[in-house]
Amino acid sequence: MPDLYPLARRLLFAMDAESAHHVTLSLMRTADHLGILHALTGTAHASDPTDSSLELMGLRFPNRVGLAAGLDKTGSAVHAFGELGFGHVEIGTITPRPQPGNEKPRLFRLKEHEAIINRMGFNNPGVAGMLENLSHSRRNFRGILGINIGKNFDTPNDEAICDYLLCFEGVYAAADYVTANLSSPNTKGLRDLQNAGTCGELIRQLQAKRSELQTAQGGKYVPIVIKIAPDLSDEAVVALAGVFNETGIDGVITTNTTIARDAVAGHALAGEAGGLSGAPLTTKSTGVLRLLRQEMNDAIPIIGSGGVMSADDARAKFDAGAALVQVYTGLVYKGPKLVTEIAGMKTAES
Ligand SMILES: Cc1cc2nc3c(=O)[nH]c(=O)nc-3n(C[C@H](O)[C@H](O)[C@H](O)COP(=O)(O)O)c2cc1C
Repeated sequence: MPDLYPLARRLLFAMDAESAHHVTLSLMRTADHLGILHALTGTAHASDPTDSSLELMGLRFPNRVGLAAGLDKTGSAVHAFGELGFGHVEIGTITPRPQPGNEKPRLFRLKEHEAIINRMGFNNPGVAGMLENLSHSRRNFRGILGINIGKNFDTPNDEAICDYLLCFEGVYAAADYVTANLSSPNTKGLRDLQNAGTCGELIRQLQAKRSELQTAQGGKYVPIVIKIAPDLSDEAVVALAGVFNETGIDGVITTNTTIARDAVAGHALAGEAGGLSGAPLTTKSTGVLRLLRQEMNDAIPIIGSGGVMSADDARAKFDAGAALVQVYTGLVYKGPKLVTEIAGMKTAES
Protein backbone atom coordinates (compact mmCIF):
# COMPACT_ATOMS: atom_id res chain seq x y z
CA MET A 1 0.00 0.00 0.00
CA PRO A 2 1.59 3.34 -1.01
CA ASP A 3 2.09 5.94 1.72
CA LEU A 4 -0.70 8.48 1.09
CA TYR A 5 0.55 10.86 3.76
CA PRO A 6 2.85 13.01 1.58
CA LEU A 7 -0.18 13.91 -0.55
CA ALA A 8 -2.43 14.47 2.47
CA ARG A 9 0.28 16.63 4.01
CA ARG A 10 0.48 18.79 0.92
CA LEU A 11 -3.26 19.48 1.12
CA LEU A 12 -3.24 20.02 4.86
CA PHE A 13 -0.23 22.35 4.76
CA ALA A 14 -2.11 24.53 2.27
CA MET A 15 -4.48 25.42 5.15
CA ASP A 16 -3.64 27.39 8.27
CA ALA A 17 -2.34 25.07 10.97
CA GLU A 18 -5.32 25.12 13.32
CA SER A 19 -7.87 24.52 10.53
CA ALA A 20 -5.73 21.64 9.26
CA HIS A 21 -5.75 20.20 12.77
CA HIS A 22 -9.56 20.23 12.97
CA VAL A 23 -10.00 18.88 9.43
CA THR A 24 -7.58 16.02 10.15
CA LEU A 25 -9.30 15.00 13.37
CA SER A 26 -12.69 15.18 11.77
CA LEU A 27 -11.60 13.06 8.76
CA MET A 28 -9.94 10.57 11.08
CA ARG A 29 -13.09 10.20 13.18
CA THR A 30 -15.25 9.72 10.09
CA ALA A 31 -12.88 7.15 8.55
CA ASP A 32 -12.71 5.36 11.89
CA HIS A 33 -16.49 5.18 12.16
CA LEU A 34 -16.65 3.79 8.64
CA GLY A 35 -14.04 1.22 9.67
CA ILE A 36 -11.56 2.27 6.96
CA LEU A 37 -9.03 4.39 8.86
CA HIS A 38 -6.72 1.49 9.41
CA ALA A 39 -6.75 0.49 5.75
CA LEU A 40 -6.36 4.10 4.56
CA THR A 41 -3.30 4.82 6.67
CA GLY A 42 -1.73 1.42 6.16
CA THR A 43 -0.63 1.37 9.80
CA ALA A 44 0.33 -1.64 11.87
CA HIS A 45 -2.44 -3.31 13.80
CA ALA A 46 -4.05 -1.07 16.35
CA SER A 47 -3.14 -1.49 19.98
CA ASP A 48 -2.73 -5.25 19.75
CA PRO A 49 -0.11 -6.54 22.13
CA THR A 50 3.06 -7.18 20.13
CA ASP A 51 6.50 -8.57 20.82
CA SER A 52 7.43 -5.16 22.13
CA SER A 53 4.59 -4.93 24.67
CA LEU A 54 5.75 -4.14 28.17
CA GLU A 55 4.57 -3.85 31.75
CA LEU A 56 5.09 -0.41 33.27
CA MET A 57 3.52 1.35 36.25
CA GLY A 58 1.39 -1.77 36.68
CA LEU A 59 -0.08 -1.35 33.18
CA ARG A 60 0.48 -3.40 30.04
CA PHE A 61 1.50 -1.11 27.16
CA PRO A 62 0.99 -2.84 23.77
CA ASN A 63 4.03 -1.08 22.33
CA ARG A 64 6.47 1.71 23.18
CA VAL A 65 4.97 4.61 21.29
CA GLY A 66 2.19 6.92 22.43
CA LEU A 67 0.40 10.04 21.31
CA ALA A 68 1.63 13.09 23.23
CA ALA A 69 -0.86 15.36 24.97
CA GLY A 70 -2.33 18.31 23.10
CA LEU A 71 -3.30 16.64 19.84
CA ASP A 72 -6.52 15.16 21.20
CA LYS A 73 -7.18 17.86 23.78
CA THR A 74 -10.90 17.06 23.92
CA GLY A 75 -10.71 13.27 24.13
CA SER A 76 -12.79 12.85 21.01
CA ALA A 77 -10.58 10.62 18.84
CA VAL A 78 -9.12 8.00 21.18
CA HIS A 79 -10.13 4.92 19.22
CA ALA A 80 -9.06 6.58 15.97
CA PHE A 81 -5.55 7.18 17.31
CA GLY A 82 -5.46 3.55 18.40
CA GLU A 83 -6.13 2.66 14.78
CA LEU A 84 -2.98 4.55 13.81
CA GLY A 85 -1.04 2.08 15.95
CA PHE A 86 -0.43 4.10 19.12
CA GLY A 87 -0.05 1.81 22.13
CA HIS A 88 -1.04 4.63 24.45
CA VAL A 89 -2.96 7.82 23.88
CA GLU A 90 -2.65 10.79 26.22
CA ILE A 91 -5.58 13.18 25.99
CA GLY A 92 -5.82 16.73 27.38
CA THR A 93 -4.60 18.93 28.90
CA ILE A 94 -7.94 19.16 30.68
CA THR A 95 -8.76 21.84 33.25
CA PRO A 96 -11.59 21.69 35.80
CA ARG A 97 -13.74 24.20 33.89
CA PRO A 98 -13.92 24.55 30.08
CA GLN A 99 -11.90 27.44 28.61
CA PRO A 100 -11.36 28.79 25.09
CA GLY A 101 -7.58 29.20 25.23
CA ASN A 102 -5.63 32.08 23.73
CA GLU A 103 -6.62 34.24 20.80
CA LYS A 104 -5.94 32.97 17.27
CA PRO A 105 -3.60 32.67 15.49
CA ARG A 106 -1.87 30.52 18.09
CA LEU A 107 -0.40 27.64 16.08
CA PHE A 108 2.47 28.04 13.57
CA ARG A 109 4.43 25.67 11.36
CA LEU A 110 8.14 26.28 10.85
CA LYS A 111 8.37 23.91 7.89
CA GLU A 112 12.05 24.44 7.17
CA HIS A 113 12.82 23.19 10.68
CA GLU A 114 10.12 20.49 10.90
CA ALA A 115 8.85 22.37 13.91
CA ILE A 116 5.75 23.94 15.44
CA ILE A 117 5.27 26.90 17.74
CA ASN A 118 2.05 26.86 19.75
CA ARG A 119 0.47 29.07 22.34
CA MET A 120 -2.91 27.33 22.46
CA GLY A 121 -3.36 28.00 26.20
CA PHE A 122 -5.26 24.88 27.27
CA ASN A 123 -8.33 25.30 25.05
CA ASN A 124 -10.41 22.41 26.33
CA PRO A 125 -13.96 21.31 27.22
CA GLY A 126 -13.26 20.86 30.96
CA VAL A 127 -13.44 17.58 32.86
CA ALA A 128 -17.17 16.99 32.32
CA GLY A 129 -17.03 17.76 28.59
CA MET A 130 -14.03 15.51 28.09
CA LEU A 131 -15.73 12.61 29.91
CA GLU A 132 -18.77 13.03 27.68
CA ASN A 133 -16.54 12.94 24.56
CA LEU A 134 -14.70 9.91 25.87
CA SER A 135 -17.94 7.98 26.29
CA HIS A 136 -18.24 8.08 22.46
CA SER A 137 -14.61 8.06 21.34
CA ARG A 138 -13.08 5.29 23.43
CA ARG A 139 -15.16 2.46 21.98
CA ASN A 140 -13.09 -0.72 22.13
CA PHE A 141 -9.69 1.02 22.28
CA ARG A 142 -7.42 -1.56 23.85
CA GLY A 143 -4.35 0.58 24.41
CA ILE A 144 -3.52 2.57 27.51
CA LEU A 145 -5.37 5.84 28.09
CA GLY A 146 -3.51 8.66 29.82
CA ILE A 147 -5.37 11.80 30.89
CA ASN A 148 -3.29 14.96 31.17
CA ILE A 149 -4.51 17.53 33.71
CA GLY A 150 -3.74 21.18 34.46
CA LYS A 151 -5.16 24.32 35.99
CA ASN A 152 -7.52 26.95 34.59
CA PHE A 153 -5.77 30.09 33.34
CA ASP A 154 -7.48 32.26 35.97
CA THR A 155 -6.71 30.05 38.96
CA PRO A 156 -3.92 31.71 40.98
CA ASN A 157 -0.87 29.58 41.63
CA ASP A 158 -1.52 29.36 45.37
CA GLU A 159 -4.80 27.58 44.53
CA ALA A 160 -3.40 25.53 41.64
CA ILE A 161 -3.17 22.29 43.61
CA CYS A 162 -6.97 22.41 44.12
CA ASP A 163 -7.43 22.44 40.32
CA TYR A 164 -5.19 19.38 39.91
CA LEU A 165 -7.06 17.57 42.70
CA LEU A 166 -10.43 18.39 41.12
CA CYS A 167 -9.29 17.09 37.73
CA PHE A 168 -7.69 14.01 39.25
CA GLU A 169 -10.87 13.08 41.10
CA GLY A 170 -13.00 13.78 38.01
CA VAL A 171 -10.99 11.62 35.61
CA TYR A 172 -9.89 8.88 38.02
CA ALA A 173 -12.43 6.26 36.98
CA ALA A 174 -11.76 6.82 33.26
CA ALA A 175 -7.95 6.99 33.28
CA ASP A 176 -5.32 4.27 33.09
CA TYR A 177 -2.78 6.88 34.24
CA VAL A 178 -2.93 10.61 34.94
CA THR A 179 -0.27 13.15 33.98
CA ALA A 180 0.04 16.38 35.93
CA ASN A 181 1.27 18.91 33.39
CA LEU A 182 3.53 21.42 35.14
CA SER A 183 5.34 22.51 32.02
CA SER A 184 3.17 24.25 29.45
CA PRO A 185 4.71 27.66 28.71
CA ASN A 186 1.31 29.06 27.71
CA THR A 187 -0.41 29.32 31.08
CA LYS A 188 1.06 32.11 33.16
CA GLY A 189 2.96 30.82 36.18
CA LEU A 190 2.38 27.12 35.44
CA ARG A 191 6.06 26.29 35.15
CA ASP A 192 6.68 27.79 38.62
CA LEU A 193 4.89 24.70 39.97
CA GLN A 194 8.04 22.77 39.01
CA ASN A 195 9.78 24.32 41.99
CA ALA A 196 10.83 21.33 44.15
CA GLY A 197 8.78 22.40 47.20
CA THR A 198 5.53 22.98 45.30
CA CYS A 199 5.97 19.93 43.11
CA GLY A 200 6.57 17.73 46.17
CA GLU A 201 3.44 19.14 47.85
CA LEU A 202 1.37 18.57 44.70
CA ILE A 203 2.52 14.96 44.42
CA ARG A 204 1.84 14.23 48.09
CA GLN A 205 -1.67 15.70 47.87
CA LEU A 206 -2.43 13.75 44.69
CA GLN A 207 -1.17 10.57 46.35
CA ALA A 208 -3.36 11.20 49.42
CA LYS A 209 -6.37 11.78 47.15
CA ARG A 210 -5.53 8.57 45.30
CA SER A 211 -5.62 6.57 48.54
CA GLU A 212 -9.19 7.82 49.11
CA LEU A 213 -10.25 7.17 45.53
CA GLN A 214 -8.63 3.75 45.44
CA THR A 215 -10.70 2.67 48.43
CA ALA A 216 -13.87 4.23 47.03
CA GLN A 217 -13.38 2.75 43.54
CA GLY A 218 -12.88 -0.92 44.27
CA GLY A 219 -9.08 -0.83 44.66
CA LYS A 220 -8.33 0.75 41.26
CA TYR A 221 -4.80 2.25 41.36
CA VAL A 222 -4.11 5.05 38.90
CA PRO A 223 -0.41 5.89 38.38
CA ILE A 224 0.55 9.56 38.63
CA VAL A 225 3.02 10.95 36.09
CA ILE A 226 4.65 14.41 36.12
CA LYS A 227 5.47 16.22 32.86
CA ILE A 228 8.40 18.61 33.01
CA ALA A 229 9.90 21.32 30.77
CA PRO A 230 13.10 21.15 28.73
CA ASP A 231 14.11 24.62 29.91
CA LEU A 232 14.95 23.64 33.49
CA SER A 233 18.53 24.18 34.67
CA ASP A 234 20.55 21.06 35.52
CA GLU A 235 20.27 22.01 39.22
CA ALA A 236 16.49 22.17 38.93
CA VAL A 237 16.35 18.75 37.22
CA VAL A 238 18.53 17.27 39.99
CA ALA A 239 16.31 18.85 42.67
CA LEU A 240 13.20 17.43 40.99
CA ALA A 241 14.81 13.99 40.74
CA GLY A 242 15.21 14.17 44.54
CA VAL A 243 11.49 14.96 44.90
CA PHE A 244 10.54 12.12 42.55
CA ASN A 245 12.70 9.64 44.47
CA GLU A 246 11.37 10.78 47.83
CA THR A 247 7.69 10.75 46.89
CA GLY A 248 7.91 7.60 44.77
CA ILE A 249 6.14 9.17 41.80
CA ASP A 250 4.99 6.53 39.28
CA GLY A 251 6.52 8.10 36.15
CA VAL A 252 7.89 11.26 34.53
CA ILE A 253 7.50 12.67 31.01
CA THR A 254 10.51 14.55 29.64
CA THR A 255 9.70 16.96 28.07
CA ASN A 256 7.14 19.54 27.03
CA THR A 257 7.90 22.24 24.42
CA THR A 258 10.74 24.77 24.77
CA ILE A 259 10.66 28.55 25.02
CA ALA A 260 14.22 28.69 23.62
CA ARG A 261 14.63 29.86 20.03
CA ASP A 262 18.36 29.39 19.39
CA ALA A 263 17.71 26.36 17.16
CA VAL A 264 15.37 28.34 14.88
CA ALA A 265 17.03 31.77 15.11
CA GLY A 266 16.45 33.88 12.00
CA HIS A 267 13.21 32.16 10.98
CA ALA A 268 10.38 34.58 10.23
CA LEU A 269 8.17 32.94 12.86
CA ALA A 270 10.87 32.48 15.52
CA GLY A 271 9.59 35.52 17.40
CA GLU A 272 6.09 34.08 17.92
CA ALA A 273 5.43 33.50 21.61
CA GLY A 274 4.77 29.93 22.76
CA GLY A 275 6.37 26.52 22.96
CA LEU A 276 8.58 25.17 20.19
CA SER A 277 8.34 21.45 19.33
CA GLY A 278 9.69 19.08 16.71
CA ALA A 279 13.19 18.62 15.31
CA PRO A 280 14.80 21.64 17.03
CA LEU A 281 13.78 20.19 20.41
CA THR A 282 15.16 16.66 20.03
CA THR A 283 18.65 17.04 21.50
CA LYS A 284 17.69 19.38 24.30
CA SER A 285 14.82 17.19 25.42
CA THR A 286 16.90 14.02 25.29
CA GLY A 287 19.55 15.80 27.39
CA VAL A 288 17.02 16.42 30.18
CA LEU A 289 15.89 12.79 29.92
CA ARG A 290 19.48 11.54 30.25
CA LEU A 291 20.23 13.70 33.29
CA LEU A 292 16.99 12.75 35.01
CA ARG A 293 17.67 9.06 34.32
CA GLN A 294 21.08 9.37 36.00
CA GLU A 295 19.62 11.07 39.06
CA MET A 296 16.40 9.15 39.57
CA ASN A 297 15.70 5.67 40.95
CA ASP A 298 15.72 3.08 38.18
CA ALA A 299 12.29 1.90 39.25
CA ILE A 300 10.65 5.14 38.09
CA PRO A 301 10.02 5.00 34.33
CA ILE A 302 10.57 7.96 32.01
CA ILE A 303 8.48 8.67 28.94
CA GLY A 304 10.51 10.53 26.32
CA SER A 305 8.68 13.30 24.45
CA GLY A 306 10.26 16.02 22.36
CA GLY A 307 11.34 15.90 18.75
CA VAL A 308 10.81 12.22 17.99
CA MET A 309 10.79 12.62 14.20
CA SER A 310 12.21 9.21 13.25
CA ALA A 311 12.87 5.72 14.59
CA ASP A 312 16.46 6.86 15.22
CA ASP A 313 15.24 9.69 17.45
CA ALA A 314 13.13 7.18 19.36
CA ARG A 315 16.19 4.91 19.66
CA ALA A 316 18.21 7.82 21.10
CA LYS A 317 15.52 8.35 23.76
CA PHE A 318 15.48 4.63 24.62
CA ASP A 319 19.28 4.66 24.82
CA ALA A 320 19.13 7.66 27.16
CA GLY A 321 16.82 5.68 29.43
CA ALA A 322 13.25 6.17 28.21
CA ALA A 323 10.86 3.26 28.66
CA LEU A 324 8.34 4.72 26.21
CA VAL A 325 8.26 7.60 23.76
CA GLN A 326 5.51 9.96 22.70
CA VAL A 327 5.01 11.78 19.42
CA TYR A 328 3.17 14.93 18.38
CA THR A 329 5.05 17.09 15.85
CA GLY A 330 6.60 14.02 14.18
CA LEU A 331 3.10 12.82 13.31
CA VAL A 332 2.33 16.16 11.63
CA TYR A 333 5.49 16.08 9.49
CA LYS A 334 5.96 12.34 8.88
CA GLY A 335 2.48 10.87 9.17
CA PRO A 336 1.31 7.59 10.72
CA LYS A 337 4.16 5.60 9.15
CA LEU A 338 6.34 6.96 11.95
CA VAL A 339 4.14 5.26 14.54
CA THR A 340 4.39 1.91 12.78
CA GLU A 341 8.17 2.25 12.52
CA ILE A 342 8.64 2.97 16.22
CA ALA A 343 6.06 0.41 17.37
CA GLY A 344 7.88 -2.29 15.43
CA MET A 345 11.35 -1.39 16.72
CA LYS A 346 13.34 -4.02 18.53
CA THR A 347 14.79 -2.80 21.82
CA ALA A 348 17.61 -4.12 23.95
CA GLU A 349 15.13 -5.95 26.19
CA SER A 350 12.72 -7.23 23.55
C1 LIG B 1 -0.11 22.33 19.30
C2 LIG B 1 0.44 21.67 20.53
C3 LIG B 1 -0.35 21.61 21.67
C4 LIG B 1 0.14 21.00 22.83
N1 LIG B 1 -0.66 20.92 23.93
C5 LIG B 1 -0.21 20.28 25.04
C6 LIG B 1 -1.05 20.13 26.17
O1 LIG B 1 -2.21 20.56 26.19
N2 LIG B 1 -0.53 19.49 27.25
C7 LIG B 1 0.73 18.99 27.28
O2 LIG B 1 1.14 18.41 28.29
N3 LIG B 1 1.54 19.09 26.20
C8 LIG B 1 1.10 19.72 25.10
N4 LIG B 1 1.91 19.83 24.00
C9 LIG B 1 3.28 19.30 24.07
C10 LIG B 1 3.38 17.89 23.47
O3 LIG B 1 2.63 16.98 24.21
C11 LIG B 1 4.85 17.42 23.44
O4 LIG B 1 5.29 17.21 24.76
C12 LIG B 1 5.78 18.42 22.76
O5 LIG B 1 5.18 18.97 21.62
C13 LIG B 1 7.12 17.78 22.36
O6 LIG B 1 6.91 16.68 21.51
P1 LIG B 1 6.98 16.77 19.91
O7 LIG B 1 8.28 17.41 19.54
O8 LIG B 1 6.83 15.35 19.47
O9 LIG B 1 5.83 17.61 19.49
C14 LIG B 1 1.45 20.45 22.84
C15 LIG B 1 2.23 20.50 21.67
C16 LIG B 1 1.74 21.09 20.53
C17 LIG B 1 2.60 21.13 19.29
